[in-house]
Amino acid sequence: MAQAIHPVSGRVVAPVMSAAGADWLERSERESEENPAKAIHALQIKPGMTVCDLGAGSGYYTVRMARLVGPTGKVFAVDIQPRMLELLERRLKSAGINNVIPVLGTEDDPKLPPKSQDLILLVDVYHEFARPQLMLRRMREALKDDGRLVLLEFRKEDASVPIRLEHKMSIAEVKMELEPEGFRVDKVLDLLPWQHIFICKKKD
Ligand SMILES: C[S@@+](CC[C@H](N)C(=O)[O-])C[C@H]1O[C@@H](n2cnc3c(N)ncnc32)[C@H](O)[C@@H]1O
Repeated sequence: MAQAIHPVSGRVVAPVMSAAGADWLERSERESEENPAKAIHALQIKPGMTVCDLGAGSGYYTVRMARLVGPTGKVFAVDIQPRMLELLERRLKSAGINNVIPVLGTEDDPKLPPKSQDLILLVDVYHEFARPQLMLRRMREALKDDGRLVLLEFRKEDASVPIRLEHKMSIAEVKMELEPEGFRVDKVLDLLPWQHIFICKKKD
C-alpha cells in the first residue's frame, strides 16, 4: 500500500502499531528511555480533572493519569483497536482502578463528549493518525476552552534517538500541522531523554 503523506507538511504518516506488538509498550527499558514519571509530572494533572489518554494502547499512561485525577476525576482512554482496549481493561481490573472510561474510537473520531476535556494526551500516537486533520478538529471540539492538547513525540531533529524516522516528529512539523487546525504550540519542553513534549492550546 502507498504511504500516506500529510498534505501540509509532507510528512510520511507511520502505520498504526498493531496490538500484536503491545509487549513493546510494556518493555522495562521504557522507564529509562522515556522517563514517564517526569513526563507525567510536567503535565500538572490535578485531582478532579477530566482527561483523555488518546491512543491509550495497553494503558501505560492511563493508569498513571487515573491515579492523579483520583476518585473525583475521570480518564477517557481511547483507542481504535479493540484488542488494545481489552489489554487496557485487564490492566485496570488488576490494578483496582475504576475511574477510567474505555472508548473505541475510529481513525477520524475519538468519540469524546464536546467541551469535556481538561487535557488530551497523545504519547507516541499523533504520527500514526491516518486522518490527522480530522482528528485535530474532533479533539479541538472535545477540549474545554482552556484545555490542553499534549503530544509526546520522539525528536526528529536528534539523529541519536534510535527510532525509525516516520515515528519521530520535529517541532517545525508539529507547528505546520497543528496551527491550521486552530491550535497554537504554547510550549515545547525538552526534559525527556528522547521525546519532545508539545503543550498546545486552542487559538482564540
Ligand atoms: C505506539 S502506540 C502508543 C500507545 C500508548 N500511548 C503508549 O504510550 O503506551 C499508538 C496507539 O495509538 C492508537 N491509534 C492510532 N491511531 C489512532 C486514532 N486515530 N485514534 C485512537 N487511537 C489511535 C493505536 O491503535 C495504538 O494503540
